[in-house]
Amino acid sequence: MESNVTHDCRILKGSAVSKAAEEKTQERVARLRQLGVTPTLVLLSVGEDPASQVYLRRKEEASARVGIEVRRRHWEAGDDPQDLERTLVELGEDPGVHGVLLQLPLPPGWDAQALQNLLPTEKDVDGLHPVNAGRLALGQPGFVPCTPLGILGMLRHYDIDPAGKQVVVMGRSAIVGRPMANLLSQKGVDATVTVVHSRTAGMPEICRQAEILIVAIGRRQMVTAEFVRPDATVIDVGIHRLEDATRPKGFRLVGDVDADSVKPVAAALSPVPGGVGPLTVAYLLENTVLAAERLSGPPLAPDKSGE
Ligand SMILES: NC(=O)c1ccc[n+]([C@@H]2O[C@H](COP(=O)([O-])OP(=O)(O)OC[C@H]3O[C@@H](n4cnc5c(N)ncnc54)[C@H](OP(=O)(O)O)[C@@H]3O)[C@@H](O)[C@H]2O)c1
Repeated sequence: MESNVTHDCRILKGSAVSKAAEEKTQERVARLRQLGVTPTLVLLSVGEDPASQVYLRRKEEASARVGIEVRRRHWEAGDDPQDLERTLVELGEDPGVHGVLLQLPLPPGWDAQALQNLLPTEKDVDGLHPVNAGRLALGQPGFVPCTPLGILGMLRHYDIDPAGKQVVVMGRSAIVGRPMANLLSQKGVDATVTVVHSRTAGMPEICRQAEILIVAIGRRQMVTAEFVRPDATVIDVGIHRLEDATRPKGFRLVGDVDADSVKPVAAALSPVPGGVGPLTVAYLLENTVLAAERLSGPPLAPDKSGE
């Protein structure tokens, strides 16, 4: 299956990283609960997108594992968006709520950007409010979208230091590509970042400069060995269903990267499934705890009582 020469491509599994992140989060939740604070996350959803239902369930299950309380609110596609708008404002004022996440995509007729603009900035645990996006761009503390945060966590977990490296981010979406590029170019992370997108000319050549290639383009298995510099680290963010009659469900999951093509060239590759996916959930939990800590004020240090 692999190439003719001995080349070991390291598989960057997300489960090991998410487990370590969840353990840390669980400790922080326990500390908050000792102080009488129950970190609480509200998941908002609209319509019946099947993938979203799966993601929401995973977020609920993971929250329960670490002790975060979850509340769900759901609207049908035909409901009045103003009701969700009012809910967003109310959640901003509710002291018992620390994190608010609006599950995307929304059905036609629902304006995701307008709704995101109503998210309470200090509870915006997916970092999509313009204030948090702006803070990230300016290098100020705020909330960073969970997927880029998870990818940075993955690189750190596997001792792949982006500092001083050439990184190419494929895709410029508000939820992955842009915040990823901003995060990597922060002081302290210190990568040299290039962003490519659907209008980029000469993309394979640019991507071949990358010591770390992060692929978030939503194009099934588009990235082949032609895009990859020998011994690069490749992070595959994409998730797609590929029909496969040999599988019980009739499909399997694949990414934006053609793994079979890339493995003989890359030094490391995050798999799909089991790579970036679990991290997005783990870092949502971390952001929720961070929000609860910030909203609960300073008396959070474990040694506050001087014991
Ligand atoms: N694992 C996870 O937890 C997770 C989380 C979020 C997303 N995802 C997956 O990651 C992928 C990307 O998600 P997204 O929300 O960022 O997607 P998106 O909003 O559709 O953005 C895709 C980006 O890729 C660019 N692009 C599209 N076709 C391209 C091409 N042929 N060459 C170069 N660039 C191209 C687009 O360029 P333009 O701006 O020029 O249109 C756009 O910037 C999807 O498969 C999604 O399902 C996974």
